[in-house]
Amino acid sequence: MSRPLPHRSSMADESDSTHGGPNSTKRDGPKGGEDDFVPSKLGTKQYWDEAYQTELETFRDIGDVGEIWFGEQSMGRVIRWMEKAEIPKNASILDIGTGNGVLLVELAKEGYTNLTGIDYSAASVALAMDVLQAEDLNNISVKEVDFLSGSGELKDFDVCVDKGTFDAISLNPENTNEVRIRYVQALGDALKEGGYFVITSCNWTKEQLLHRFCSGFEFVQQLPTPSIQFGGKTETEDDLTSRDSQLARIGCSGRLYSAPSEG
Ligand SMILES: C[S@@+](CC[C@H](N)C(=O)[O-])C[C@H]1O[C@@H](n2cnc3c(N)ncnc32)[C@H](O)[C@@H]1O
Repeated sequence: MSRPLPHRSSMADESDSTHGGPNSTKRDGPKGGEDDFVPSKLGTKQYWDEAYQTELETFRDIGDVGEIWFGEQSMGRVIRWMEKAEIPKNASILDIGTGNGVLLVELAKEGYTNLTGIDYSAASVALAMDVLQAEDLNNISVKEVDFLSGSGELKDFDVCVDKGTFDAISLNPENTNEVRIRYVQALGDALKEGGYFVITSCNWTKEQLLHRFCSGFEFVQQLPTPSIQFGGKTETEDDLTSRDSQLARIGCSGRLYSAPSEG
């Protein structure tokens, strides 16, 4: 297992929230440990194929792009950081697990010109391509690729962005630890030396992310995120995990961002 050194990475601190979605729950576990996830269908390709097939049909029917994971603000924060860090507009940027491709749309609107989105779900890729076409964005590459495949086709990116994909992969009911290891390897292969990794996560604590990406990556910065309140009370992790999936997802919105700064 070799990775280029150093990468500058950023980590999300979601210590007071958890990723929602069907069957996504969290067990108590040691800080920095990784044995506290209950596997979920969100970790399966079948789940995403079905979800994006439905979203694709909806988009073609009524033009609704579907779920914006972590909310619109999450994209704004990543983009604001990119501007602050003076990531060049022509930097090569990979959106890992692009879903509906809306992050690519927002990046393009901010002037980023060298964008690639990948997803292992063919329906996601079809949706992202439709969404981009509807925005007249024809210069963005969207490919059906399993990030964990080890094919070697993804390399030399200046910035890799992950919004919810490592979370989903981490819920894989099979080979749980192996897929997490493969993710880190794949990331090392995809990023150029000194490139940035920006992860938005809802399931992992900062300590856990630092532990997972400790080898070959250098933590740069965590973006501050606002607290979410329901009924005048700041939600805690336990509050969110006990709620239904939709509310838990809403609870994730607006908080789980990370982005590095220079140096
Ligand atoms: C929570 S969704 C987030 C989608 C998108 N990043 C967003 O913010 O809307 C997770 C995404 O990861 C994709 N995904 C999961 N495992 C993957 C893999 N091994 N390779 C590529 N994409 C994957 C899923 O198909 C899905 O689009």
